[in-house]
Amino acid sequence: MSLEARTDSVTFTVNGRAEEVRVAPRRTLLAALREDLHLTGAKEGCGVGTCGACTVLVDGRPVLSCLILAVQAYGRSVETIEGLTRDGVLDPVQRAFIEHDAFQCGFCTPGQIMTLQGLLRRRPDPSPEEIRRALDGNVCRCGAYLRIQAAALEIARTAEARRSGRPT
Ligand code: FES
Ligand code: FES
Repeated sequence: MSLEARTDSVTFTVNGRAEEVRVAPRRTLLAALREDLHLTGAKEGCGVGTCGACTVLVDGRPVLSCLILAVQAYGRSVETIEGLTRDGVLDPVQRAFIEHDAFQCGFCTPGQIMTLQGLLRRRPDPSPEEIRRALDGNVCRCGAYLRIQAAALEIARTAEARRSGRPT
């Protein structure tokens, strides 16, 4: 049987839900999420690991889903932008993006937000510099960088207020 014709069963958790997909060995995690599970939040910009639009979390860490195979997610926990809103309540990073109008077309937004999610998981109180560095790999073709920075800096200010016991 050719490699293209073969499929493997991959079981993993996606946004807290157990999922199983049958995929060809070379299918990327991005393709499995978008085409098999119909979770189209993660976007394919470049497809070669340079734009960040496809960022999702795997076991809590940001991963470029165009660069890993679906089979590599076997047994792992994958989170996408679709999983952030709970009971209709937006996550604070999503709220900050809306409040600061931090997008134009929105194509890069899921990747930007998931990158920040990954940072906040490992550094709940990131400095503005850490935020800037974390977002280095997320390209915005519309050039909404100033507003993305403003949203991210608000997150940093909230973290700083929390650190110093000020009301947020
Ligand atoms: S689509 Fe994955 S980094 Fe651009
Ligand atoms: S808002 Fe259009 S690519 Fe970033």
